[in-house]
Amino acid sequence: MPQRETWATRTGFILAAVGSAVGLGNIWRFPFAVGQEGGAAFLLVYLLFVVLIGFPAMLVEFTLGRRTQKNPVGALAQMGGRTWKLVGLVFVVTGFTILSYYSVIAGWTIRYTFASLTGAYTADPEAYFGAVSVGFDAVAFHALFMVLVIGVIALGVRSGIELAVKFMVPAIIALGIGLAAYAFTLDGAGAAYQFYLSPDLDVLAAEWQSILPAAAGQAFFTLSLGMGVMITYSSYLAEDRNLASDGAIIIGFDTAIAFLMGLILFPFLFTAGVDPGEGGPGTLFISLAAAFAELPAGNILGAVFFGTVAIAALSSAISLLEVPVSYVIDEFGVDRMTATLGVGGLVFVLGLAPALDLIFLDLFDLFADAILLVLGGLLVSIFVSWIVPDEALDELQKGIGELGSIGTAWVWAVRIPVVLVLAFSLYLG
Ligand code: PFF
Ligand code: NA
Repeated sequence: MPQRETWATRTGFILAAVGSAVGLGNIWRFPFAVGQEGGAAFLLVYLLFVVLIGFPAMLVEFTLGRRTQKNPVGALAQMGGRTWKLVGLVFVVTGFTILSYYSVIAGWTIRYTFASLTGAYTADPEAYFGAVSVGFDAVAFHALFMVLVIGVIALGVRSGIELAVKFMVPAIIALGIGLAAYAFTLDGAGAAYQFYLSPDLDVLAAEWQSILPAAAGQAFFTLSLGMGVMITYSSYLAEDRNLASDGAIIIGFDTAIAFLMGLILFPFLFTAGVDPGEGGPGTLFISLAAAFAELPAGNILGAVFFGTVAIAALSSAISLLEVPVSYVIDEFGVDRMTATLGVGGLVFVLGLAPALDLIFLDLFDLFADAILLVLGGLLVSIFVSWIVPDEALDELQKGIGELGSIGTAWVWAVRIPVVLVLAFSLYLG
C-alpha cells in the first residue's frame, strides 16, 4: 500500500479549502438567493448562520478528518463503527450528485466566457440561453469541464489540487476586486446597494419560514460543509495546525467573496434594468448576459466575469470529486488514476440528466442541498458532539493548547444550535 498523500505546505491546505468554498455557491447561488428571499433581510440571517453554525460545523469536519487521516466513510467507520459509516456514504452520494449538475452549470460558464467575446448572446440573451443550456451543447461543455476536473484530481493532492489552487484562488480574488471596483462606477450602483444592504425587517418577519432554511442551506453549501470535503481535505494534514484559525480564515475568504459578488452583480443588473428576483437556474445567465449587452465594454467585462466564475467552479469541483475518489482509493485499494477516471466517468454520466433536461438540475439541486447536505451535516454534528466529544476536543486542542471553556462552548454550540438549526431546516425545507 503506497503512503497516503499529504499537503506540501501550510498555505496549500488553506488555499485548497478556500478554493473549494468559493464557487458557484458564491456567484450563482448566493445573489440569486438574496434576490429571491427578500434582499438584505436574507443576507443578515445568512451572515449570522455562517458564524454561529458554519464555523462550529467546519471544526466538526476538521477534527474528524485530521484525527483519522481517512476519507469520510473510513473516518466515520473508524470512530463510530458500522452504523455511522452510513453517514460517510451519504457524503459520498451527495458529492456525486452535486458534482453532476455543478459541472453542467460550470460548463455554461466556459461557454459564456467565449460567447461574451464573440457577442453571441447580445441579440437575444434568453433565446441564447435556451439554445445552449440543454442538449448537445450543454453535454459538450459538461464533458469539457469534467475533463479538467479529472485532470487535476488524477495528478493527486500535491501536484494536482495544491498546485492548481495556488494559481486559481489569487486569480479569483484579483478579478473579483477589479469587477467590484468597476461596478461601483455604474449608474445603478446606488439603488443596487440599497436593495442589497439595507435589511427590511418586515420581510424577515413575514418570510422567516422560507428564509431560515434557505439561509442555513446556503451557509452549508457555500462553506462546502455537509458532504465530507472538509473531512477529506483535513485528512491530508500532516502537522498539527490550529484548526480554529484555519477555519476562520477559510470562512472569512468565502464570506468576503460572496459579499463582493453581491457588490458586483446587483449594480450590473440594476444598471441594465434587470429584475434580480426572478427565479430559475438560468436567470443569472440570462439577466447577466442582458446586462453585459447593455454595459460599456460589455463583451470584455462578460468574458472576465464568466471566466472568473469558471475558475471558481473548477476549484470547487475538484474538491467534490476528491471525496468519492479518496473513498475508493482508501477503502478499495484502487490506484488514483483508475479511481479518478472511474468516478469522474460516472459523474459525467449522471450529469447527462441535468444537461439534457433542466428539470433534473432543479431536482438534483433541491435534493442535494435541501435534504442530503443538511442531513449529512446534521448526523455528523450529532456524532461528533454527542458520541465522541472527548476525542474531538483532544484533536481540536492540538496546535492550539489548553482549550478550557472555549472547547466546552464549541461542543455545546454543535450539540444544540447547529443540530437544532439543521434539524429545523430539514423539517421546513
Ligand atoms: N462551496 C462551493 C460553492 O460555494 O460553490 C460548492 C461546494 C463545493 C459545495 C464542495 C459542497 C462541496 F462539498
Ligand atoms: Na462558497
